[in-house]
Amino acid sequence: MQLLLEHIGTLAGIHPSTAAPLRGEALSALPSINNAFLLLEDDKIAAFGPMEELDKQSLNTNIKRISAAGKTVLPSWCDSHTHIVFAGSREQEFVDRIRGLSYEEIAKRGGGILNSAEKLRAASEEELFESAMGRLNDIILQGTGAVEIKSGYGLSIESELKMLRVIKRLKASSPLSIKATFLGAHAIPNEYKGRKNDYLRMLIDELLPIIASEQLADYCDIFCENNYFDAKDTKTLLAAASKLGIQGKVHAEQLSHSGGIRAGIEAGAVSVDHLEYISDEDIELLKNSSTIPILLPGAQFFLNLPLPPARKMLNAALPVAIATDFNPGSAPSGNMAFNLSLACVLYKMTPEEAINAATINGAFAMGLGSSHGSITVGKKANILITRPIPGPAFIPYSFANNLVEQVILNGKIINTL
Ligand code: NIG
Ligand code: FE
Repeated sequence: MQLLLEHIGTLAGIHPSTAAPLRGEALSALPSINNAFLLLEDDKIAAFGPMEELDKQSLNTNIKRISAAGKTVLPSWCDSHTHIVFAGSREQEFVDRIRGLSYEEIAKRGGGILNSAEKLRAASEEELFESAMGRLNDIILQGTGAVEIKSGYGLSIESELKMLRVIKRLKASSPLSIKATFLGAHAIPNEYKGRKNDYLRMLIDELLPIIASEQLADYCDIFCENNYFDAKDTKTLLAAASKLGIQGKVHAEQLSHSGGIRAGIEAGAVSVDHLEYISDEDIELLKNSSTIPILLPGAQFFLNLPLPPARKMLNAALPVAIATDFNPGSAPSGNMAFNLSLACVLYKMTPEEAINAATINGAFAMGLGSSHGSITVGKKANILITRPIPGPAFIPYSFANNLVEQVILNGKIINTL
């Protein structure tokens, strides 16, 4: 089945197939073609180029054609950090923060992650599946084509497995490309209060082997932070996961400098995420590693945290990625375009850098770099089409407006606004 997008105003995010995420000058360039065509065949990108060259293509007689005149066409967003499976909401904590409490203070009195854990444990697998599917459908309409989803609100063998099985079902039923991450080390549950090491041992000795044998997780993550887990725990857990063939990720330096970046790099983590308190030394360490720094502007904005030194990271040629952190506590939104606007305004990223960080680098941050995140022949036909706009920079400029008019996932048209 062929699908042809023709007369495209701007086709952007055209990158050659690369083995690694973009950094430095390559990250700041968004190669594009004006008045372009994009030919999709089954679920793959088959060809693209300027309209004048369309006649070189052999087109089937039953081809479906879409005119994208004046519109911008991009690879779908790759959201490499979310906690989309959750129960209930936490707007009371939002109000408490407005009134002056900090995220840490709310967590200390039983709010935060433990609040969501209580709600998740009480929810059935079916309820979790349905609500998460609703959120996935929302982010599809906002242009996301691939998403990483973490567990971490179960915090017990039974409830972590429940979350991971929900993610497995989502993988099978959603048109999105999905990666699953085990985040049992998200907080210390009440049953283990004061016994962090026992909880960590349970995760390593009991839960991880089940997860590995049932292939329930692509990655293993940990919250490396004061009052949660430290750098030593991070290395211990990620080493155990790695032995089972599961690569690491780290929630690092979000609320304080806790050594998560160094520990993650030493454990060969695919990414270290958040990074509000990243140091110059960490930037040097990242420069000499293949670990991807993921910035989560929505969570930083929503918790009113200090700005990460994004410009410094980009100038050091780090392969920065951007993701939403969609979760009920620190980022109740999965809107990638809004995160791009934040990255441009707050972090002084250019629209080109932000778009690359949210597509190709996000794809690499979840192991999808060779199949997702750019307009490249042979890659997955996951595409977003905007309404008529002047060009890609208009997307972060026109903040909080949904400009996505049509979405194609796996070569199939999903919706029209
Ligand atoms: O990525 N930082 C830790 N975990 C989440 C927040 C989870 C929550 O508050 O429920 C985050 O921001
Ligand atoms: Fe997170």
